[in-house]
Amino acid sequence: MSNQLLAQKKGIIFGALDNQSIAWKTAEAVAEAGGSFVLTNAPVALRMGTISELAEKTNSQVISADATNVKELNALVDQSQEILGGKLDFVLHSIGMSVNVRKGKHYTELNYDWLTKGWDISAVSFHKLLQTLYHKNSMAPWGSIVALSYIAAQRTFPNYNDMAENKAYLESIARSFGYFFGKNKKVRVNTISQSPTLTTAGKGVAGLDGFLNYAEKMSPLGNATAEECANYTVSLFSDLTRKVTLQNLYHDGGFSNVGVSQEIIDSLEDNK
Ligand SMILES: NC(=O)c1ccc[n+]([C@@H]2O[C@H](COP(=O)([O-])OP(=O)(O)OC[C@H]3O[C@@H](n4cnc5c(N)ncnc54)[C@H](O)[C@@H]3O)[C@@H](O)[C@H]2O)c1
Repeated sequence: MSNQLLAQKKGIIFGALDNQSIAWKTAEAVAEAGGSFVLTNAPVALRMGTISELAEKTNSQVISADATNVKELNALVDQSQEILGGKLDFVLHSIGMSVNVRKGKHYTELNYDWLTKGWDISAVSFHKLLQTLYHKNSMAPWGSIVALSYIAAQRTFPNYNDMAENKAYLESIARSFGYFFGKNKKVRVNTISQSPTLTTAGKGVAGLDGFLNYAEKMSPLGNATAEECANYTVSLFSDLTRKVTLQNLYHDGGFSNVGVSQEIIDSLEDNK
């Protein structure tokens, strides 16, 4: 049964590509909790994905915007405020892409043009979005902005490639811009560090199945699913978490604090 935690709240959700996307599940959970929103994605994703299905289901409009293009972000924010009728209470940045990962370039042989493009999409776009919202004064007091991250920002995961640096940069932007958003606008900015999840972006990482199994065995509560991430995001958009800001919040079944689990020890001993 719905809790209506987000009744009367309005926002923008970036990054719903298909029904596996974390942003898709979040849009469903936000709608269920009574929130209304505009959905947005890059023009190419709107052509390839199935977002209109989600828009219909959640009674929301879709606006195309490349998150690296400040002009398009400006237009998106203006139009969203017009459609929703006022300032925004929540924004989800659920965007990630590495050209080096996509094209199978090894970390020791990175193409720097591709690196720059992936960095712009995955990390700098968050600064561009925050700066747009800040200068337009588009966020309502006690609003909440969330971006999605991964623990490769802190620890080494060989196949995560240049996305590791992108996530470290993203998390740093949340802290740096979050300071000014908190001080001057009373708005929260946080990142959620999510378990590995089977989505289009997730599948781009080589060996994802092994990754998922390892994380599952290491996490006392098991991997967090996309639906569970969506519910956690609803709590961060709600008024119940008004003093949580500048945080990178692990949503990973406990993975981040485990040195080794008994399952992993047993599996290594079995193979002796
Ligand atoms: N899947 C995982 O294992 C996992 C784990 C932790 C964090 N995350 C993060 O979660 C977020 C969402 O990824 P997902 O797993 O749901 O995959 P996804 O592929 O469904 O979502 C990624 C989204 O980024 C969008 N995007 C790419 N370039 C864009 C641009 N220029 N402008 C606007 N949007 C653009 C894509 O169209 C897509 O909708 C990403 O930040 C990802 O890094 C994913």
